[in-house]
Amino acid sequence: MLSKETIRIIKSTVPVLEIHGVNITKRFYQLLFLNHPELLHIFNHANQKQERQQTALANAVYAAAMHIDHLPAILPAVKQIAHKHRSIGIQAEHYPIVGKYLLVAIQDVLGEAATEEIIAAWAEAYKVIADVFIGMEAGMYEQSARQAGGWEGYRDFVVKRKVKESDVISSFYLVPRDGGPLAGFEPGQYVSVKLEIPGEEYTQIRQYSLSDAPGKPYYRISVKREEGHPDRPAGKVSVYLHRQVKEGDILRLSAPGGAFTLNREDPRPVVLISGGVGITPMMSMLNTLADTDPQRPVIFIHTAVNGNMHAMREEVKSLLPKLPHLSVYFCYTRPTDSDKTARVHHHEGYLNLPWMKTVIPTTDAQFYFCGPVSLMKTVYRALKTWGIPAADMHYEFFGPAVSLDDV
Ligand code: HEM
Repeated sequence: MLSKETIRIIKSTVPVLEIHGVNITKRFYQLLFLNHPELLHIFNHANQKQERQQTALANAVYAAAMHIDHLPAILPAVKQIAHKHRSIGIQAEHYPIVGKYLLVAIQDVLGEAATEEIIAAWAEAYKVIADVFIGMEAGMYEQSARQAGGWEGYRDFVVKRKVKESDVISSFYLVPRDGGPLAGFEPGQYVSVKLEIPGEEYTQIRQYSLSDAPGKPYYRISVKREEGHPDRPAGKVSVYLHRQVKEGDILRLSAPGGAFTLNREDPRPVVLISGGVGITPMMSMLNTLADTDPQRPVIFIHTAVNGNMHAMREEVKSLLPKLPHLSVYFCYTRPTDSDKTARVHHHEGYLNLPWMKTVIPTTDAQFYFCGPVSLMKTVYRALKTWGIPAADMHYEFFGPAVSLDDV
């Protein structure tokens, strides 16, 4: 139990740390990797460069600190992060290391303002927060190892089939090399893939949503090839998977996890909205509904740049006979001339609320959305304006979460 005084110090210093938030976490990562270079094998360096990870970690620590006297309030956020940690393989013994360098970073950035009293209070608070994560992750490790077909750590999978889904997205059908059973999962969950890329100094770990329903003799992931842009380098892992990995090759996977899952108990209509490669968890949800709950009303909205970039169009259409209450809408932001003549899309341009209202017949539904941050912001704002309660909105970021409210 933290003393009242410690809680007071923590709460009064959070706003100060927030001002310096990203500087503190940047300094923290410098120190962490300098002293523990082995951790460079588990962090995603692309996220570091884009500073999304720094912001995500800073926000999570400060949010936890603000709720230090009633941590249950932030358990949903902890759960989402703990899933990611478990999927990657973060261990209890990593926490004191992170705590140590977080405190040093706070001291470095705040200088004299970081009194001994403040540092002692943060050391105590960090331990309390870390214990919540460690406890939750321990439960998740146990569950993923114990469930039928489950396993600990990473397991070898053979690429059974590699299928081109669009100009930029390819699917990989993966079966366990040991021939053993496959763990079930909830539609919407992801796996981590751990890769040694020739010429790269560090191991690379990435998360990919499972894009088919559970209960199949394989896991399917569908990966977008991330080309380089002036403000963003090409995705090392996705380019490697697309260009080098072929059928028969081995990929190492951790057991499925993730908190963005279809609520199968709720009988209301399901609205699935995705952009680009954000279609992957939606395909798992849609295929699952087709397999297990075909009478459910489903509205499936997918946006892509154009028909060439549009993955899994035929797969979605093939589900129409299985799901009699499924409505499908494709939106192209920049349709090609042949898209226009073929009339394969239902809406041209970006999503907006007036159009969404014409195709979504009810607000009393569960809404799931996933895609680029810009699409997520548009959909979130639109649904909020329409009066959809937060509890009915479920969404997943690719990469560290960012706030949808500060727009
Ligand atoms: C991801 C918070 C401890 C390693 C994350 C994310 C958050 C977070 C918010 C982003 C989740 C997302 O992707 O949506 C925290 C907090 C911690 C903590 C509050 C302590 C209380 C640790 C420790 C390690 C670690 C001890 C291991 C050294 C990672 C890694 C990722 C991650 C590797 C994946 C993101 C990437 O590779 O860019 N954490 N974390 N975290 N965390 Fe932690």
